Amino acid sequence: MKKYHLATYGCQMNEYDSAMIAQQLELRGCLPTDNPEDADYIIVNTCSVREKAEDTAIANISKLKHAKELNPELKIAVCGCMAKNRGPELLKRLKVVDFFVGPDQYKKIPELLMGEYKGHHKLFLDEDIEENYLGEYAKLQSDFSTFVTIQRGCNKRCSYCIVPYLRGPEKYRDTNDVLTEVKMAADKGVTEVMLLGQTVNAYKTPNADFAQLLTNVSEIEGIRRIRFTSPHPRHYTNELIDVLLNNPKVCHYAHIPLQSGSDPILKKMRRQHNIDQYMSVIEQLRSKDPYYGISTDIICGFVGETEADFAETLKVTELAQFDTAFMFIYSPRKGTESAKETEILTSEEKLERHTRLVELQNSITLKRNEMMLGRIEELLVEKNSMRDDSELRGRTDNFKKVIFRPANGKIIKPGDYVKVKLDDIRGWTIRGTLED
Ligand code: 5AD
Ligand code: SF4
Repeated sequence: MKKYHLATYGCQMNEYDSAMIAQQLELRGCLPTDNPEDADYIIVNTCSVREKAEDTAIANISKLKHAKELNPELKIAVCGCMAKNRGPELLKRLKVVDFFVGPDQYKKIPELLMGEYKGHHKLFLDEDIEENYLGEYAKLQSDFSTFVTIQRGCNKRCSYCIVPYLRGPEKYRDTNDVLTEVKMAADKGVTEVMLLGQTVNAYKTPNADFAQLLTNVSEIEGIRRIRFTSPHPRHYTNELIDVLLNNPKVCHYAHIPLQSGSDPILKKMRRQHNIDQYMSVIEQLRSKDPYYGISTDIICGFVGETEADFAETLKVTELAQFDTAFMFIYSPRKGTESAKETEILTSEEKLERHTRLVELQNSITLKRNEMMLGRIEELLVEKNSMRDDSELRGRTDNFKKVIFRPANGKIIKPGDYVKVKLDDIRGWTIRGTLED
């Protein structure tokens, strides 16, 4: 039996693609292994969004040399955004790699790895506007929760972002294909599904827009929680907000990228939203449910960002009261609009702004978590706590992590739904006690 090892970097969409590749290999009789030195095939699914993501992947791919020395038959494929972005150049540098495969060519991976391909090409990077992976379903990420990609590519062309160049224009997955994949997962016991796309709420096919798709997914028997990521502030229609707030299966949590709190910077980023529009989405969600969970992405030290612009980012962060935020230091990506401009800020200045923002957000995160104390919440149990094996970790509907102790004599396992009273906080972590 041949074994494959998969390493994934980057976003959840890469996680989903990796699971789709895994499924293709398993349908051909391969088994997964965690140990690269034990594998016949290695697939590294990479990210290019920031330079650091590429550097980490390159360093780890170089380390595979040892596995290849142990087993000269080993085949290594590098796929994902970095393969597309830098395949031709890396071909010379990373001699261990047999194939570089771009995001539209994943169906070729099994034949390439398994030796059915007899040609001499190493680069499979062509964009294919028609490729939507119809009828390809991913291996489940867990017994109870899974990702389902509904949109590929991106049309937004934010000036800092390399993704549209690597993943091509937006493609929406056929609605029936999406529903089939969710149904198949539900039939196997999955109760939570996370719908994925770069601007997931722009979803539109002849059969459904995003609001309609959420409704259709919610009608699938067995599905109890629906999540999605990442929405764009521009695509929150009234119908969508109505579904988000009134369909009981759609979780009250969203990751809505802000990027900057300054309107001139947002314009320069070509974000297609301003602060008023952004805040109006948050207000609509939080006015109905003050506990509605909102997280965001923010870039610090974008090219041209003045101290006054950054002060606006701090102000909006305070105003928006994000539950959590992913805060990044601007990293110019070759080929993007903004990389053509010369940066004035030094790395130290960018880092200093980042530190200030992280400090502010930490205090807000703590406040938002403290707000949850006293509430009785339903958790989907995810796993044992990392700190203490005898404790369990679950998530509330609004995506708060909660640690709790199982009650004596009652067996609770990942995938179960339990009711807990949130009654303590340690560090940032909320703790709860099981309700009878
Ligand atoms: N530099 C820093 N952060 C970036 N992101 C995207 N491109 C860049 C870049 N060039 C961030 C954005 C995006 C998240 C996935 O990564 O905040 O939402
Ligand atoms: Fe990274 Fe973006 Fe590609 Fe995801 S789509 S892997 S975040 S560059």
